[in-house]
Amino acid sequence: EMAVVHSIETLQGMIDRNKREGRTVGFVPTMGFLHEGHLTLVKHAREHNDVVVMSIFVNPAQFGPGEDFEAYPRDVERDASLAKEAGVDILFMPTSEEMYPQDGGVRILPGPQSKVLCGASRPGHFDGVLKVVLKLFNIVDPDRSYFGMKDAQQLAIIETFVRDYNLRTSIERVPIVREKDGLAKSSRNVNLTEMERMEAPVIQQALKKGVLLFNEGVSVDEIEREITAHIMENSSGIMDYVSLLSYPELTEYDDSSDEAILACAVKFGKTRLIDNTIMSTK
Ligand code: PAJ
Repeated sequence: EMAVVHSIETLQGMIDRNKREGRTVGFVPTMGFLHEGHLTLVKHAREHNDVVVMSIFVNPAQFGPGEDFEAYPRDVERDASLAKEAGVDILFMPTSEEMYPQDGGVRILPGPQSKVLCGASRPGHFDGVLKVVLKLFNIVDPDRSYFGMKDAQQLAIIETFVRDYNLRTSIERVPIVREKDGLAKSSRNVNLTEMERMEAPVIQQALKKGVLLFNEGVSVDEIEREITAHIMENSSGIMDYVSLLSYPELTEYDDSSDEAILACAVKFGKTRLIDNTIMSTK
């Protein structure tokens, strides 16, 4: 039986009881409209914890003016049944009033990792992510928290936050889950037209081409140019950014970094899709 909880107090009571009985808690934060990507996080959490908590909360604080907060897809009934099937024990679905009853003006600000990639075109986005993630960590008090590599920048920023501020959860990285044709699964994919959906796998194709060039020793600038050209020539997609950086630092790439990230965002009509690949450099 899965418990569906809307109140922070009720949730904390349930978690306290579980912890007192010595159970470990795994946590999967989401914004809902669940797909295989989210459910894979649950699967990992299920394997390593006694109790699995999932949150579904479309967090207004991480959407900028003119972004898709209102249009973000939602389906509570379907989400609840998928979560239950996947093995979630406690589904936490707070309202905005429950999460943000007042604003005393305290701010959590991410560092330079938040200024590049998606942060450059979404100012304040990662402030909103850290705000909700800190609240959720304090509410759920998980032993382990699961995040997808699909949002590699978000993951890098959260890892840094947890490390620098001694937050008491481990952060577990989960690989990107893709459709058969290579498109990274995303709640936003439903917003693509049929034509855009057919074109969208070009993103992963371009990244793969970038990896080959990287392994051949081609320069960062040239790789970024080739990826942009590949996407522009083979689809109606418009490049928001493409960037090769060290990971998880997200600083300019140089060969002293162990890992590099090749990441891009592409707009198909109104829908902005992101994808990335992590490359080992040693
Ligand atoms: P959301 O976009 O719903 O994603 C929830 C989690 O699922 C994130 O850790 C994300 O990286 C992971 N995820 C999404 N698609 C994935 C895929 N194709 N493969 C693997 N993992 C995938 O990310 C957020 O919500 C929010 O910013 C949140 C962290 C919940 C804070 O509001």
